[in-house]
Amino acid sequence: MVNVPRSGRTWVVLPVVLNVRITPVQGLRGTIAAPPDKSITHRAILFAAISDGPVRVGNTLDSDDTAATLGAIERCGVVVEGELGGELVIHGVGLRGLKPPPALDCLNAGTLMRLLTGILLGQTGDRIVLDGDDSLRGRPMLRIAAPLKAMGAEILTAPGGTPPLLVAPGLPLTAMAHRLPVASAQVKSCLLLAGLYAHGTTWVSEPAPSRDHTERMLEASGVVLLRQDDRVGVSGPVERLRLPDLTVPGDPSSAGVLIAAGALLADPEIRITGVNLNPSRMGLVRVAERMGAKVTIEPGDDMAGEPFGDIVIRRSGTLHATEVTGDEVPSLIDELPLVALLGVFAAGTTVVRGAGELRVKESDRVATVVAALRGLGAQIDEREDGFSVRGTGRLVGGEMSSDGDHRLAMLGALAGLVSYEGVRVQGFDAVNVSYPGFAQDLARLGAVAT
Ligand code: S3P
Repeated sequence: MVNVPRSGRTWVVLPVVLNVRITPVQGLRGTIAAPPDKSITHRAILFAAISDGPVRVGNTLDSDDTAATLGAIERCGVVVEGELGGELVIHGVGLRGLKPPPALDCLNAGTLMRLLTGILLGQTGDRIVLDGDDSLRGRPMLRIAAPLKAMGAEILTAPGGTPPLLVAPGLPLTAMAHRLPVASAQVKSCLLLAGLYAHGTTWVSEPAPSRDHTERMLEASGVVLLRQDDRVGVSGPVERLRLPDLTVPGDPSSAGVLIAAGALLADPEIRITGVNLNPSRMGLVRVAERMGAKVTIEPGDDMAGEPFGDIVIRRSGTLHATEVTGDEVPSLIDELPLVALLGVFAAGTTVVRGAGELRVKESDRVATVVAALRGLGAQIDEREDGFSVRGTGRLVGGEMSSDGDHRLAMLGALAGLVSYEGVRVQGFDAVNVSYPGFAQDLARLGAVAT
């Protein structure tokens, strides 16, 4: 069992990288409350910070990523009561009230760096350096810097268009229409947030719909969004945000690991409670069902504009290969590594295409997923924009590295459960980025990790 201590909003520096061995199991069963949504926790903290007055945010995710966001707003002078993992009371300072320090560390969190950049443009004060860990320092930032500069912002990147960023707050911004070459909720959110401060209507359109938590939360905060064909717009400058108190729903991406586990191993069923059922995040459910997985959705009430509910998954007799194409990729972008594993156990060849974005995530997830699963015995091939997997129905097991990527660490654990020999995951502690309770939850379902 692995239990990495967490300590609220203080940085947790792990002195050693944890290696964990996950042994095969015959079946998994039980009920797990989905961990709180990472995307919504980031947004709730950021939006509450620039709201007028205090906002209560319940069921926050206590993870390395969200600790970075909480730490960042506190360093910008926002007073917060409570601890991550429970309810926070965030004393919002208004849309233009942040007092940014000279430098902020976004650690591994791309969502934080991209969304915060949009918000910082509307503040006053000196230039701010935004930096992160080695993984974040490899991620593309021109996708936000170029459109923001076109609006009048001053932003410098490192020579490769990567962090650190140097952001100048307080310059006048002019609204414009942006057509994103690649669907990205982070880029869309950054531009809409900058649009709150710009004169005129900032429009954003994307080739396929990405998650819309920012739009839902802005509307819940009293901001009127415009919609025209496939584009969304905000007219600025906006005076104020009033984010209502909210409870963060469970994360469909973390639930995705349990859904994939259930499709392969549920006996008789795994129930995941309190999951965010936002259609823009339901891609894995749709793909798993197409492959023959038995998934039941039990919708509950909406909260702060987001639907909640339970997902029940039963083991599938036979899985069939499928093809995932670019138009559905944004709805399961973080779950595509799981599709690769399902593909190993599905009759036929499963192909994921149009997923070049995977190459610029916390690791190059085309390369790392293919190398990891191939090393465990899968017949998987890399494509420029995805991968193809032959459904051999077996995985030998062995050893793999997370490459510091949380989604890879969870994929490795799942691979161990369905392998012959088990899997030793080097750098398992990467799970702390999004799902610190992952090992405990697997153990609750009947898995063994040593
Ligand atoms: C996120 C959006 C996605 C996703 C990331 C979180 C968000 O990234 O991969 O884990 O919270 O907006 P992109 O929007 O850049 O694809």
